[in-house]
Amino acid sequence: MVTSKSHSNIALIKYWGKQNNKIQIPLNSSISYSLGKVYTVTRLIYQEKKNKKLSIRIFFSGKEKTSFLPKILEFFHRISFYCSYLRNWNFIIETYNNFPHSSGIASSASSMSALALCIMKIEKELVSSLKEDFFFEKASFLARLGSGSACRSIYPGLVVWGYHKSIKGSNNLYAIPYPYEVHSIFTKIENTILIIDDNPKKILSSKGHQLMNNHPYARERLKCANQNMNRLISILKIGDFKKFGELIEHEALTLHAMIMTSYPYFLWMKPNTLNVIQTVWDFRKHSNKNIYFTLDAGANVHLLYPIQEKKFILKWIYSDLFFFCKKIIESFCW
Ligand code: PMV
Repeated sequence: MVTSKSHSNIALIKYWGKQNNKIQIPLNSSISYSLGKVYTVTRLIYQEKKNKKLSIRIFFSGKEKTSFLPKILEFFHRISFYCSYLRNWNFIIETYNNFPHSSGIASSASSMSALALCIMKIEKELVSSLKEDFFFEKASFLARLGSGSACRSIYPGLVVWGYHKSIKGSNNLYAIPYPYEVHSIFTKIENTILIIDDNPKKILSSKGHQLMNNHPYARERLKCANQNMNRLISILKIGDFKKFGELIEHEALTLHAMIMTSYPYFLWMKPNTLNVIQTVWDFRKHSNKNIYFTLDAGANVHLLYPIQEKKFILKWIYSDLFFFCKKIIESFCW
């Protein structure tokens, strides 16, 4: 039996679209912050197989979840070539999230990352000489085969996945910690998550990625993501929070614009998503505070602001945004 904990992450530059669906190669490079206080804990129990057939049972918050099985079976199938030792066992997966799943907080990221870390712990038991760097690189590689963005949840802090010519070591197979200098303002950022809708979303991101294949604006999106990465590298160095905020808002709205202009088309935002965005923009205009939003594949809003502003901004969030939300999660970029 092995246990691992992994945190969710929020992308600043969004991974959207795949060059290859089966092996999860992204169209563009992405960068995220891992999130404090928002995590999955997974326990993987492995038992010797009685016959050749693989059996996996999954328990989510103590209840058996057969609906998760197809994704997990596909994951075990994809990784079997890289982890041949797994063929000897059946598995029981017990997993717990401290936040709602499938609602735009990357639950697939933290859960696939926690599972990949469990598998690497088994590998470490079998190969005691396994190096630490290899442990995390392979964990990220395996997590990617479960859910693309999960490969970034292996590390804390700023994490890059996908080849970008300006980022040394970046590649499509596994994520790496952001390798360059970061201004101190970006080392302590608050992230308050406003849960607008806690129902599992109807259109999964896997469907959205697929829709990029024939998307009329896919080429422009790719260009824009690459440029944004270049801009972000210098913003992170200089410490310009305003430029940082404008860039992440632009990225979030571009992601949603892509889903709205795909065919079939979808809308992840809810009326209260827009209410929050408008209220944040109004507040920023009259207070001059550094508070910006980003969105994931869903209706919920992540607000990012420097830790120095925490007291004032949190007070404002609870007074002016509270009524648009079902729940508020106080997290931080970790
Ligand atoms: O990892 P997936 O397949 O759930 O895709 C995640 C995509 C976004 O969350 C929208 C963006 C990202 O980079 O995390």
